[in-house]
Amino acid sequence: MTGTTVVVLAAGKGTRMKSERPKVLHTMCGRTMLGWVLEACLGLDPIRVVLVVGHGAADVEREARRELAAVGREDLLRVVLQEPQLGTGHALQVAAGELGSADRVIVTYGDMPLLTSASLGSLELAQADCGPDSTAFLTAIVDDPFGYGRIVRDDDEQFVRIVEQKDATAEERQIEEVNLGVYCFARVPLGDTSRGDLAALQNNNAQREFYITDLAGIARAAGRTVVPVVLDEVEEAMGVNSLSQLAEARWVVQGRILDQHLANGVQIEDPATTFIDYGVEIGVGARLLPCTVIRAGVKIAANAEVGPFAHLREGTVLHEGAKVGNFTEVKKSTLGAGAKANHLSYIGDATIGAKANIGAGTIFANYDGKAKHKSTVGERAFVGSGSIIVAPNNIPAGATTGAGAVLTRSARMGEGEVWVGMPAKRLAPRAPSDESRGSSERS
Ligand code: UD1
Ligand code: MG
Repeated sequence: MTGTTVVVLAAGKGTRMKSERPKVLHTMCGRTMLGWVLEACLGLDPIRVVLVVGHGAADVEREARRELAAVGREDLLRVVLQEPQLGTGHALQVAAGELGSADRVIVTYGDMPLLTSASLGSLELAQADCGPDSTAFLTAIVDDPFGYGRIVRDDDEQFVRIVEQKDATAEERQIEEVNLGVYCFARVPLGDTSRGDLAALQNNNAQREFYITDLAGIARAAGRTVVPVVLDEVEEAMGVNSLSQLAEARWVVQGRILDQHLANGVQIEDPATTFIDYGVEIGVGARLLPCTVIRAGVKIAANAEVGPFAHLREGTVLHEGAKVGNFTEVKKSTLGAGAKANHLSYIGDATIGAKANIGAGTIFANYDGKAKHKSTVGERAFVGSGSIIVAPNNIPAGATTGAGAVLTRSARMGEGEVWVGMPAKRLAPRAPSDESRGSSERS
């Protein structure tokens, strides 16, 4: 046994998305549809992943490489260009040269981002169980089968063929079992464009396309086993063709992400208003309060608290017990253990020390119109309400800014010092005469 090759069809334009961007590069929870699909495919531990590209080929290929490189599996990827696009069967013909010496070939779509590894796994298992020459494919029973290929069965409920909406008779259109477009073929009978089932495909149909669906009928007619595998979770089979469907699919993905964090011990008060992207790390006992948006690449340690109404962007790291409160945005910044930014602040490109306090309305002015600059705030520093820290800048450990201080670039604060005003200046220590008068009064 030499394993499974996965083919992902992603050549289509996605006209109904009304967008210049190739369909599979639209994102859900911080990751492209293609990224979600590739992750599900990798769950099968395939020997190869063959991506069929067409519209936006270069961009789609780049994204696939990036995704696979991120998990160190770029070696699996083969990319083939399908130009022109003459149908799903033609797409597989074009891929035939790259299938490798696999036992079986699983074909799925780049625009079915909800399909899980587990479902692909049961398809693979069903094919393996039915023998080395068999074909298995996913079906579902749906209320509205319009647009899908229908599964035609004989009087003994045995599979006969798949018929497309446009080719179906009125009677066939009544069938509620539909083809989801995900197949597991035995490699050898599939052949290529000169022999085997792929060579037998014809385009004498309503759309003048080469249908991949005909491969199932061809295998059946040749007396080989073909098994429709009914998918229980119909939701997984959703194909994304419009922005409205993208939004719907995003909800499902978001629900899965939230469930994972809840299961890990993250306290999420209101999942319905909490947005967490893919790839966010959150420690046990962290609390997420309502209306909070947490983007990809954020790390939140145990017992930290975020929200309500907080926005954590890429590169945010919250250490143990740190707090980011309402109407605060954090980007590419670290808050040390127990540091707090509880109200109305923007923290960009800053490193905040442990137990530091960022007062209400503090702004890190990190952008000078040309470049972004970094700032640091030391441990236990106290930044007064309404401070503006013009970057690059440094507030040393234990230092204080007064309310409304504007710390310009030329400020050079020393440890433990207090700076106030606009532009902020060092608050002089009390004059010695005051101190002597004080002491004389006491004596
Ligand atoms: C296909 C199936 C149909 C099934 C439905 C499920 C065929 C003939 N029909 O129909 O039985 O119910 O999917 O969604 O396969 N693609 C290419 N190259 C092509 C054509 C398509 O890469 O030449 C890709 C598209 O990008 C898309 C996928 O294949 O991701 C499906 O193509 P589409 O034309 O939408 O298939 P349907 O007509 O919906
Ligand atoms: Mg079509």
